[in-house]
Parts: sequence; C-alpha cells; structure tokens
Amino acid sequence: MDVRNVVLTGFMGTGKTTVGRALAARLGYRFVDTDLLIELEAGKTVAEIFQEDGESAFRSWERQIAGQLAGASAAVIATGGRLMLDNDNAELLCARSHVFCLTAEPDDIVRRLAGERGQRPLLAVDNPAQRVRQLLEERAPGYSQFPQIHTSGRSVDEIVEEVLKCISAT
Ligand code: S3P
Repeated sequence: MDVRNVVLTGFMGTGKTTVGRALAARLGYRFVDTDLLIELEAGKTVAEIFQEDGESAFRSWERQIAGQLAGASAAVIATGGRLMLDNDNAELLCARSHVFCLTAEPDDIVRRLAGERGQRPLLAVDNPAQRVRQLLEERAPGYSQFPQIHTSGRSVDEIVEEVLKCISAT
C-alpha cells in the first residue's frame, strides 16, 4: 500500500535532519536525507562537490535524487535547503508527500551554523551572518509556498507533535 511521505524543507540550520529522524521514528517510516544520499552516490561530500565540480553540479545531483525519490512511500525526507525551491523537484516530491517548511529566527540559524562553515559551502564567506540573512530574504517567497513550522525556542518533540497534528488535520 502506498503511504504518503513527509518532506521537510527550509533553510540550513532549521533542524530538518534532527526533526526528520525523530519524526521517522515516531511514524515508523524510513528516514532519508537528500544531502547524505548525494554524498553516498557521488562518493564525496557536499563541500567537495561544490569545490571540485561547482554549485550547478550539486543542483544536478539534487534533481537526480528528487527523481529517484518521486516514487518513495512511507519515508520522511529531509531535503537540502534549496532542493524544494526548484519547481521541477517540488512537483516530483509534492505528488506523494505532505510537505512542511521548518523555520527559525535568523539569529538562531546563525548560531546553529557557527562552526559548521566547512560543511556548508554557501556560508564559506567572510560574513556568514550577512549571507544567511541575504539568502533568507531571497528564498522567502519560495519557502512561503509550504506550510511553516517554527522551531525557535521549541524542543524536537514539540516540533514533531506539531507536524503530526498538521498531518492528521489534512
Ligand atoms: C544548501 C543547503 C545544504 C546543502 C547545500 C546547499 C542550500 O543542506 O544542500 O550545502 O542551498 O541551502 P542543509 O539545508 O541540509 O544544510
């Protein structure tokens, strides 16, 4: 039987992977992280793909993975921060999934990502805090098309409960 997936989108540092793992455990679904899947298939890290092959190569990997996951069932899928902002990817994944966008206060995002610049190639710049705010502004219209779940000041359990409540209300 086909069971609708849950797709989590949202900016870097909003907790997609942490919340996704906890949600998958609660639902008894498989957990998938698109960045990890890309790393497995490419045989290198996201940072290495950006550095050696460029951002456009990474975005091609995202499209390939979105295609692979289009037929998934009973999975919680944590997506890289931009994957669902590509219309084709969103169309592929929305068809069989509940989609939620995790949000957080910009200050929290900056704090959560401090020290992870090596893993987040888009933030390997002189002023990562400014870059976070700029990207958040650019991406706001894209993220706003999905139901939002705020994460600042809330525990993982509280966030999972809200997602479950939203799913049962649909
Ligand atoms: C990106 C977010 C990252 C990763 C890549 C690009 C983005 O994933 O896909 O570094 O463009 O927002 P997380 O959102 O899981 O950090």
